[in-house]
Amino acid sequence: MTWSVIATWKFSLTGVAEAGKLVACGRKSLDAVEQVARYVEDDPSVDTVGYGGIPNVAGEVELDAAIMNGEDLSIGAVMGVKGYRNPISIARKVLEDTPHNILVGQGAEDFAARKGFEKTMLLSEKSIETWFKMMNELKAGNKHIEGHDTVGVVALDTFGRMASGTSTSGISMKYRGRVGDSPLVGSGFYVDDYVGGAAATGVGEDIMKGCTCFYAVELMREGCNPREAAELAVMRTHKRIFEKTGKVGNIAIVCADNKGNFGGAANHEGFEYAAASDKCLPKIYVVEPV
Ligand code: GLY
Repeated sequence: MTWSVIATWKFSLTGVAEAGKLVACGRKSLDAVEQVARYVEDDPSVDTVGYGGIPNVAGEVELDAAIMNGEDLSIGAVMGVKGYRNPISIARKVLEDTPHNILVGQGAEDFAARKGFEKTMLLSEKSIETWFKMMNELKAGNKHIEGHDTVGVVALDTFGRMASGTSTSGISMKYRGRVGDSPLVGSGFYVDDYVGGAAATGVGEDIMKGCTCFYAVELMREGCNPREAAELAVMRTHKRIFEKTGKVGNIAIVCADNKGNFGGAANHEGFEYAAASDKCLPKIYVVEPV
């Protein structure tokens, strides 16, 4: 029975391995996506997602997350959520238990409380220390928007159902209320069982300019394999922005199709993703820039 789980960055490896076991036992792709994101959200060593994420300029950790069901294209997303450790699970509740797709800020937090999520402190000692350092650099006039390591996941289960999702604390030292690509459908994630799915990491301000994940899925629909689709989508967004501005933030995506194939692409050095399938054990893949 074919299945696959693919997720951005090395920090997803444990989650991918665990999620792989779930889908191999017949669980849903939505469970796999949520599982990978939760692992990363709970990992205090990851300072770009969930607990321990580097705060915004006001010293608050504001989280964004989204999950999409490729079966019926249903979506759940939350933006600017404070005080909850696992925004991916809140996003899933939005998908499954509300007539809406997106809840933001206080509305999302009230919803989380009603659903029984526990309020918690998201600042770690390390993230507070980093915030003070970055604040001093900002005061000295140094800017910080270079890259961002979001967890982005795509999964295929043994029933041929696909899901994708993301979770992030967003660009460090962002303005209060700033939202990146991660919870925006088509920009940070997309999935359609008929074809495949994609999820992104990097500078949301640039990723969203190309609706990069939607475009990657459409390329697979037209016959590209996941790696080709990822490369063409990243290149197109990069090239279009670069031609007019001469600079582009980091953009990377992972893609998977509904046959168990997967791949990734980035416009910068150092991008890695974790993947597992019925044919390959959980492993890290290093991506050469396009
Ligand atoms: N890609 C994450 C963000 O820009 O917030």
